[in-house]
Amino acid sequence: MEKRWWKEAVIYQVYPRSFKDSNGDGIGDLNGIIEKIDYLQLLGVDVIWLNPCYKSPNDDNGYDISDYYSIMDDFGTLVDFDRLLAEAHARNIKVIMDLVVNHTSDEHPWFLESRSSKDNPKRDYYIWRPGKAGKEPNNWASFFTPSAWQFDKISGEYYLHLFSVKQPDLNWESEKMRNEIFAMMQWWCERGIDGFRLDAINAIKKRSGLPDSHKKDKTPHGYVFDPDMILNNEGVADFLKEMNDRIFTPYDIMTVGETSYVTPEMALELVDENKNIVNMLIHFEVVDSKEELTLPLLKQINHKWYSVLHGRGWQSQYLSNHDQPRQVSVYGNDTAYRVESAKLLATMIHTLPGTPFIYQGEELGMTNLYFSSIDEFDDISSRHQYEQMLKKGQTEQEALLWLHRFSRENSRTPMQWDGSDHAGFTKGKPWLRVNPNYCEVNAERALADGESIFHYYRKLIALRRREKAIVYGDYRDLLPEDEKLYVYERSLDGRLIRVLLNFSDETTALEKSLTSGFSLEFGNYSQIDTAVGSMRPWESLILIR
Ligand code: GLC
Ligand code: CA
Repeated sequence: MEKRWWKEAVIYQVYPRSFKDSNGDGIGDLNGIIEKIDYLQLLGVDVIWLNPCYKSPNDDNGYDISDYYSIMDDFGTLVDFDRLLAEAHARNIKVIMDLVVNHTSDEHPWFLESRSSKDNPKRDYYIWRPGKAGKEPNNWASFFTPSAWQFDKISGEYYLHLFSVKQPDLNWESEKMRNEIFAMMQWWCERGIDGFRLDAINAIKKRSGLPDSHKKDKTPHGYVFDPDMILNNEGVADFLKEMNDRIFTPYDIMTVGETSYVTPEMALELVDENKNIVNMLIHFEVVDSKEELTLPLLKQINHKWYSVLHGRGWQSQYLSNHDQPRQVSVYGNDTAYRVESAKLLATMIHTLPGTPFIYQGEELGMTNLYFSSIDEFDDISSRHQYEQMLKKGQTEQEALLWLHRFSRENSRTPMQWDGSDHAGFTKGKPWLRVNPNYCEVNAERALADGESIFHYYRKLIALRRREKAIVYGDYRDLLPEDEKLYVYERSLDGRLIRVLLNFSDETTALEKSLTSGFSLEFGNYSQIDTAVGSMRPWESLILIR
């Protein structure tokens, strides 16, 4: 495969609201990121992906943008942004922005104009339809609300919103609208950013005619949540190809599309290198299976994506982000083996085919947080899921338990910097609760401890930089059926990297042949003898030949 910098890079995701507060208002900000940029350099990451930091009324924490050309008041100013970019670049760290163009905020001037009357020139920047017999234009449910339509009294029609009521969908069929988006992207590229993460990008093309979904399965409110209808419609690739021709290729930037409900075959349409559309996608097959994920299923998914994409298009690897719970709590053991299992999961993400994405705090082994009442949740999606569960007849306790395991609020709690008040995140009152385990789990402690998860991440990142087989090599699963051990190999030009992971709380027997002939690079326990013939709980080993 062609060598490209973003294939060799490690990406670190910063959720600005929760990273570091510099002025005591309880909300993280751009100056806070600048304060901590040496920390990111020490970790060794190549790219920062910034969650949205544009002006926004924050109905969905910045994913509802009211001005693409300015910074959210809570986060700072464009001057701060330019400084952040310069400080990052001075350390050889690139910065990619979140591009949210499936929708804007309902407070965006385009929408205010669009809703003002049926014949406003910006009417077709959004998707307006008359109701049907006094009801919504179709039966679609949205991600965050019962119906995907909102009636607007001003002009007497409904507008489409696949997310919240305050996130009206843009109409990508309008060429004028598209040109405004491209002009905005160009403006950011001229400022010097290095790429975009494309939010909900497989939703920008709507099914022609906006037909009812005929799926039987209805939401508790009687609508139909139908990903096959609202996502991945034919034509997404054409819009993105236009974006590539106008922006991505001329500015030579990196792109990663967020695409839920894609199969590897659909993904190939977008990442096929011969087509030159986007570099890689964030797919959801692993994280969406988390409730029934077994180790053989995980291996199957990884193998499937590899076999369709290898040699043709690039992949990304992640287990957590601002929409997912903390990975060590879901896929590892966040009590007895928190440190070991956090390191094992990191080993996997950094050695499977594809570019690794680290979510802030993952390198400290930060865990889920139990919220004891729905009132403690800020997140619009968690509140919607809670309401739906109650409506289906679940008890408050059951719904809270589900949220505790899977809610996206888990990953949004403030970053744990040290053992001082509020984990050193803020001198004020944090916007969201800090996890009470911060005295034990924090960056200051991690930096001081040579055996910490943080320092293990550094080793992994350095290894990946050194060993091109991990980046470009073939992938082979040696034990596809095994329910506890995940053993695979990456190989390139005769170099062989073998990775052994014990995904369990038990010591597990290991065939001696799996280690013989290899030398140990490193593992996640301090005393290692590969001749022992077993692996300890959550042990991971990297061997090289
Ligand atoms: C993406 C974002 C998520 C947001 C949604 C709507 O899935 O990651 O946080 O709520 O898009 O913009
Ligand atoms: Ca602040």
